[in-house]
Amino acid sequence: MVRKETAEGTKVHERENRLALGDFVERAPDLSKEERMAILEILGAVSEGARDLARRLSLGPLHGLTGSSGQVNVQGEEVQAFDEIAQEIFSGLLGASGRVSLLVSEEREHPEVFPCLSESFHVAMDPLDGSSNLSVSGPVGSIFALYRGAGLRGEDPARDFLESTREVVCAAYVLYSVSTLLVVAFRDEVRMYALDPSSGHFLPLPGPVRFPDGGGQIVSINTGNYTRWEPGVRQYVDALHGRPAWSARYVGALVMDFHRNLLKGGIYLYPGDLPKGGAGHPEGKLRLLFEAIPMAFIARAAGGLATNGHRPILEIPASHIHQRVALVVGSRERVTEYSHLSGSPDPV
Ligand code: AHG
Ligand code: MN
Ligand code: MN
Repeated sequence: MVRKETAEGTKVHERENRLALGDFVERAPDLSKEERMAILEILGAVSEGARDLARRLSLGPLHGLTGSSGQVNVQGEEVQAFDEIAQEIFSGLLGASGRVSLLVSEEREHPEVFPCLSESFHVAMDPLDGSSNLSVSGPVGSIFALYRGAGLRGEDPARDFLESTREVVCAAYVLYSVSTLLVVAFRDEVRMYALDPSSGHFLPLPGPVRFPDGGGQIVSINTGNYTRWEPGVRQYVDALHGRPAWSARYVGALVMDFHRNLLKGGIYLYPGDLPKGGAGHPEGKLRLLFEAIPMAFIARAAGGLATNGHRPILEIPASHIHQRVALVVGSRERVTEYSHLSGSPDPV
């Protein structure tokens, strides 16, 4: 079980975090008063968890916590010790908030069901994104999507969750890097907060955050998979070499790669790759509910676009809670250019 800080200290931080976030939640469009209160509680739990996890991550190497837990998750991937620590932190806090009725996580095969007495949301999370970076003290993240849903109605929580996934209300990610940043989006606005480690508060940074004019020049894709991509993706990457200005940047943590491209302008791609020798991810590697949809929602709110190469990410129906999808996300200019150069439909 993950050890918690003193209840007294946690309460003080919770209050401060809510002051900074409360303003933004208050201005968000199309929400009832009860929904605003619920979202604020959920974002309060996210920021509490992020503060706790950031501190633990910074001490990881001193505690020998930089590698695998020896287990394999529901996706068939190696579970790092911190994947499980992050899972316990966020699941504990979100469950205790009384505002999350169903919680889907990369690290759990089935949704967790929590009792709620008042307005609540369905939440999907990737508690620790990019965890293979931990062995080199590289950046990692956490990703959250809040879906409007009525909680457990029948016998099958996964089905109840899937029925709610058309209506994203809010999405957020946390970046643990040289600073710990919380980025939150409602329908048409993105705001950013930085953790002050001395006080434990997330303080607002200037905003709103938008992709820069012109859409930027950064392209982030794992070109190690080049020979396994479908022809349109190879055609796109080949065409880039004829462009006068572009830069390749790839950290291998979606949150970090997306965040850099959001601030500097650019595009992130994880297309499907066909198995040739290795396992491959023909449908794409990233997960629809807790990686692609939240990033697509944040990108759209910041003036950008997201597609799987065939249709907008936010229009793809979810048929499985751990469904994978190809992801192309970034500024409007770069994603539109991708569609033209790869011969894909317009990503509007
Ligand atoms: P996770 O650590 O949650 O499994 O996510 C890893 C993802 C994503 O963050 C990153 O962009 C991508 O995997 C990198 O994959 P490659 O190493 O195959 O490029
Ligand atoms: Mn991830
Ligand atoms: Mn993860």
